[in-house]
Amino acid sequence: MSEGVRKASLELMKHLRDGFRIGLGSGSTMATFVSVLGEYVKERGLEVEVFPTSMQIGMVAEREGLKVLSTPQELDLAVDGADQVDRRLNLIKGGGGALLKEKVNLNASKLRFIIAGEEKLVDVLNADVPVEVHPFSRNYVLKELTRLGYRPRLRLLKKGYPYITENGNLIFDTEMGEIENPREVEERVKLISGVMEVGIFTMRIDGLYLTGDEGYRFIEGSRAL
Ligand code: A5P
Repeated sequence: MSEGVRKASLELMKHLRDGFRIGLGSGSTMATFVSVLGEYVKERGLEVEVFPTSMQIGMVAEREGLKVLSTPQELDLAVDGADQVDRRLNLIKGGGGALLKEKVNLNASKLRFIIAGEEKLVDVLNADVPVEVHPFSRNYVLKELTRLGYRPRLRLLKKGYPYITENGNLIFDTEMGEIENPREVEERVKLISGVMEVGIFTMRIDGLYLTGDEGYRFIEGSRAL
């Protein structure tokens, strides 16, 4: 467990209130966050409800004794990790395949925070973008992504079987080069029939905790930079 992530998670607890509904992203950073959350809630006898975005993080939440619910309507706080983040706090997410629920949680929440390692900060997003696709539409979406000039690659398991998301869909990890206008690309790809979600996240983010081995620095407000 990175000390930086642990400290950032503890700092984030200042936003927590009794009765909060909390959206949990997925991944290793979030596993640390959920452990810190579980301990904090137990120690103070708080009543909170959590909405996990994958079985991975749901199992951590269960182990921590948190009250786990599904299908969020309105959340008070959503916390998540990221695969890449730019200085305006646009994100690439979905390395763990949980992008669909992660985007719902962040959009459904009043407060939104990201915790990510310093090495994930870039000037311009350029990592492969996970695109979650309904199996029926895979050939059509492949053709459309290629037509837009992107290079989609079906995500496979080690033995060559297609990776299937928890929603029963496929993922194309899609090379897009430098993404100068993330909102435009997010909207364009989302409009392709059969695309269930795209791993570019451009909603308002209230703050980013950029973590290192020992500590973190905080960057406030998404469009402020
Ligand atoms: C999950 O699908 C992703 O969006 C995660 O947020 C991302 O992969 C971060 O994971 P780590 O915290 O393990 O780096």
